Amino acid sequence: MPGDKSISHRSIMLGSLADGTTRVSGFLMGEDNLSTWKIFQAMGVTIRQTGSDTLEIDGVGLDGLAEPADVLDCGNSGTTMRLMCGLLAGQDFFSVLTGDKYLRRRPMKRVVTPLIGMGARIWGRDGGERAPLAIQGGSLKPISYASPVSSAQVKSAVLLAGLSVAGETRVTEPHLSRDHSERMLTCFGADVRPFAGGVSLIGRPHLAAQDVMVPGDISSAAFFMVAGLITPGAELTIRNVGINPTRSGIIDILTAMGGQLELHDIREQSGEPVADVLVRHSRLKGIEIDGDMVPRAIDEFPVISVAAALAEGTTTIRDAAELRVKETDRIAAMVSELGKLGAQIEALPDGMVITGVEQLRMGTVSSHGDHRIAMSLAVAALSARGEVTIEDTACTETSFPGFWELLENICDR
Ligand code: S3P
Repeated sequence: MPGDKSISHRSIMLGSLADGTTRVSGFLMGEDNLSTWKIFQAMGVTIRQTGSDTLEIDGVGLDGLAEPADVLDCGNSGTTMRLMCGLLAGQDFFSVLTGDKYLRRRPMKRVVTPLIGMGARIWGRDGGERAPLAIQGGSLKPISYASPVSSAQVKSAVLLAGLSVAGETRVTEPHLSRDHSERMLTCFGADVRPFAGGVSLIGRPHLAAQDVMVPGDISSAAFFMVAGLITPGAELTIRNVGINPTRSGIIDILTAMGGQLELHDIREQSGEPVADVLVRHSRLKGIEIDGDMVPRAIDEFPVISVAAALAEGTTTIRDAAELRVKETDRIAAMVSELGKLGAQIEALPDGMVITGVEQLRMGTVSSHGDHRIAMSLAVAALSARGEVTIEDTACTETSFPGFWELLENICDR
């Protein structure tokens, strides 16, 4: 699997703030990560590509970034915009963050509000809710913030702002979201203490350059897990998959649906657990998904809805209103597009109800400009009778360059 998108972003951010040269291997050369890369270059950080998925970052230290001469473009990447908001709030200079038309529609107050609580000055369209965002950073104070949403982007933005200020910054959230920031900050030498319901960070740490091995992205592997489960006769080993428990909800969900998934060669890489995943064609059944399972599989619901559309019985997904503010409204997008292929799928305000059918049918569908919708529809197409045309597929470059070639390759065997 190509490298984990979340961990790749964080490797550039922490590598840039550390002292010394950080070497990263397994870096995801997707468009989202390249946006983060360019932003740090615009602030004076030297980043060298040394191989197809390796790079070196000459860190400038916590106070070494330079005021960017131009607007910083986050492209389609919500992680870039929200984490940078926190990081830039702690920098004693002026910066502006913007993004593509999808990102400029997404809610930003969830990070702007706690950062203003730390003393940051941030302006944006729609009263600070939408990008472009202008940030005059510096002179923050620590905060103890109870986030109303379970979001790693919110948690990480506050922790990154907390790096710049002496004292303890605390964040709590309703359910634990992905903890890659906490793990990587610890590897770089920060004092990060998880506690029940949240995490605290002691500011002004000395961050030391590291060798970071980025594991394969479980969110990318998810498409191939479902492809293997729904394809008669399929047996597939997906190598190098990050199985961090805050991300591995997809394995638990597919297993509960009756999927045959086995983890092999479980090992640890740069503070993250990794395994090879063996998948076999299985008869799937409908289940209920809600509560703390939702953040553990938050990016996988488009492809979970495909598995559910082909499972026996009904799958109900609740507590997942966050899906409405992802790269697109993923509830509306999957209901509309899978419906066109004959799935029995209905929207709930905070989820979906899906009753499985034997087989999907041919049709023309759209990605809505969202990489994970495009790849989920490609998996759905594997089970459809006749030809499925997916429109607007260039977006898969965001997180999974090479997706179409890999899919074609496994389908040929
Ligand atoms: C991410 C956090 C999640 C996830 C996104 C990546 C991250 O977003 O959906 O794809 O790298 O921190 P939220 O924090 O909004 O849940």
